[in-house]
Amino acid sequence: MTAAYPNLRLRRTRASAWSRALHRETVLTPADLIWPLFVTEGTSVEEPIGSLPGVSRWSVDGIARRAKEAATLGIPCIALFPNTQADRRSDDGAEALNPDNLMCRAIRAVKDACGSDIGVLTDVALDPYTSHGQDGLLDNDGYVVNDDTVAVLVDQAINQAEAGADVIAPSDMMDGRVRAIRMALEMNGHPNVQIMAYAAKYASAFYGPFRDAVGSGGLLKGDKKSYQMDPANAEEALREVALDIAEGADSVMVKPGLPYLDIVRRVKERFEVPVFAYQVSGEYAMIEAAAAAGAGDRDALVLETLMAFKRAGCSGVLTYHAAHAARLLNG
Ligand code: PBG
Repeated sequence: MTAAYPNLRLRRTRASAWSRALHRETVLTPADLIWPLFVTEGTSVEEPIGSLPGVSRWSVDGIARRAKEAATLGIPCIALFPNTQADRRSDDGAEALNPDNLMCRAIRAVKDACGSDIGVLTDVALDPYTSHGQDGLLDNDGYVVNDDTVAVLVDQAINQAEAGADVIAPSDMMDGRVRAIRMALEMNGHPNVQIMAYAAKYASAFYGPFRDAVGSGGLLKGDKKSYQMDPANAEEALREVALDIAEGADSVMVKPGLPYLDIVRRVKERFEVPVFAYQVSGEYAMIEAAAAAGAGDRDALVLETLMAFKRAGCSGVLTYHAAHAARLLNG
């Protein structure tokens, strides 16, 4: 027989702080966070990003300092994104394959500064390197071609792994890229480099500030709907995840985050695989805007949203609030 009021009073266990602590079902710690960082050229450079208040691009020396700070805060992993100089962007994004590009220099600087104290996750996609802002190679009609793009992404991934990347995160949404990258990592002596696949990545309006941060926003013509997913689709997300697991992904990501927690939940229930979510730039900006407008307490909004990711089933969250949240959690 199921208990009912008044034998059952659910408020009983909520009545005091000790009891709430005892009955808490989900924990959020700094170890659940991945901190995305934007790299730019120069030395001792910090460039604030207008559409991401509180977030800056850092030159390589600054990135190494941020990485050390992350390790000290208990954040296990950072994610790097380059703001490639305009004159190094091209139609084919060849700068992605340069072993001395901004990304590779940043990876090496972080590894020199922190060694194995922190993981370095690197994004695989061509948008920070192309003059047109798309994630891959274009045909004459401006369509992003799949297989030729995958061939370049494989070289980009190997370039990052050679520089010391720990986790390769393909965010391009081409078909077959995870398998191709996994095979290349095996053949090039990187069997322990992980792949976190951006498996269910949606064509979202929440990426605007990110595109400002990597300097691709002004260049992008059209949209990314021929490769990123339709926000209307959930079954398709499960197929994407199944495919990426079969192709050799160690973990999968859902992106954006908060508006897609239903996808996180369904992936978690269907597959035995670590699931991550990316609380993307537009989500960060919304929280900051709400706090600035007096519509909510910033710290509380940050911690509540991050807890929601954990409750939905995430192993961890990529968030621009990582350092701030870690400081709050560390007390
Ligand atoms: C690159 C990439 C994007 C993001 C992460 N990797 C932008 C895009 O696909 O246009 C977005 C992250 C964010 O908004 O914070 N392919």
